[in-house]
Amino acid sequence: MKKIMITGASGLLGRALMSTFTPNFTVLGTAFSRTSPPLHKLDLTDFTALEAFITEHQPDYLIHAAAERKPEVCQAQPEFTQQLNVSLPQKLAQLCHQYRIELFFISTDYVFDGLNPPYAENADTHPLNDYGLSKQQAEQAVLSYPAHNVIRVPVLYGQVEFIEESALTITWAQLQQNKQPAMDNWAIRYPTHVSDIAATLHDMLTKLTPSERGGVFHISDTTAHTKYALACALADAFGDDKTRIIAQDSAVGQAARPKNCQLQDTRLTQKGILYQRDATQGLIDAVRPFVAHS
Ligand SMILES: NC(=O)c1ccc[n+]([C@@H]2O[C@H](COP(=O)([O-])OP(=O)(O)OC[C@H]3O[C@@H](n4cnc5c(N)ncnc54)[C@H](OP(=O)(O)O)[C@@H]3O)[C@@H](O)[C@H]2O)c1
Repeated sequence: MKKIMITGASGLLGRALMSTFTPNFTVLGTAFSRTSPPLHKLDLTDFTALEAFITEHQPDYLIHAAAERKPEVCQAQPEFTQQLNVSLPQKLAQLCHQYRIELFFISTDYVFDGLNPPYAENADTHPLNDYGLSKQQAEQAVLSYPAHNVIRVPVLYGQVEFIEESALTITWAQLQQNKQPAMDNWAIRYPTHVSDIAATLHDMLTKLTPSERGGVFHISDTTAHTKYALACALADAFGDDKTRIIAQDSAVGQAARPKNCQLQDTRLTQKGILYQRDATQGLIDAVRPFVAHS
């Protein structure tokens, strides 16, 4: 069996990657603070420990999903963000090249400014916030090695460990905490289930040849939503009063956000690799375990 290392394996995407890859690969998942077995505890910013782990286990592939993904945290903590989101993937790109490991670096639609959607894989990047900028810088390092892959994904949801874990499931908590919750009706998003990202990556490794990989890939659901519309759907599904939800028709958040950075997939669909689902139903299913008496 081929060996795959997955960083950020305790996170929202990492957990889906672990369960999708485990049957057909020897999987080495690493985590930082949530390190229950079978995950390996590894501080990825300790480059000596990182290289020792790689040389000890010698994976064939590495999916790098660990990062700081919250724009406000990246804005408030620039040195931490530089280390985790830029210096680390730069180092990984070099190590993976040195040890002949094919790297899959998870990036974001926030590398785009959201003004001219949809964005093909070769569109120019122009991030609006520090998170997007950190990912753009990391992408450039990864792409300096042609065999490595940059995987851009939009806002994610799935089976969450806590309701605030996804930027979408947190909507349910906000509905519970506020009498008249204001929900973003300005930004257009393409919520994508982490299991669909994991299935796509699995297909990339099992169905594509190495010469068909390398460079930038976009993985995204194709249906547009706003957080306001999704919040209304959650309220309807769980017997809440959606008329108290206020539609916010201008940009929200302290860090700037793109309005619509729809990712156009021009590479994987051509190869017959496409996973789509109804995000409204998917989000309802993800929130259901947190709804009292449902
Ligand atoms: N979530 C989204 O909506 C979204 C959207 C677009 C792109 N992305 C990208 O997708 C990827 C996965 O996101 P996610 O939502 O799954 O992230 P997440 O749930 O926040 O998980 C982050 C992971 O990084 C690990 N980590 C943090 N610092 C570490 C360190 N110093 N050493 C080792 N591991 C460390 C965490 O480990 P512990 O928890 O064990 O400490 C955790 O497993 C990221 O690259 C993110 O930028 C996410």
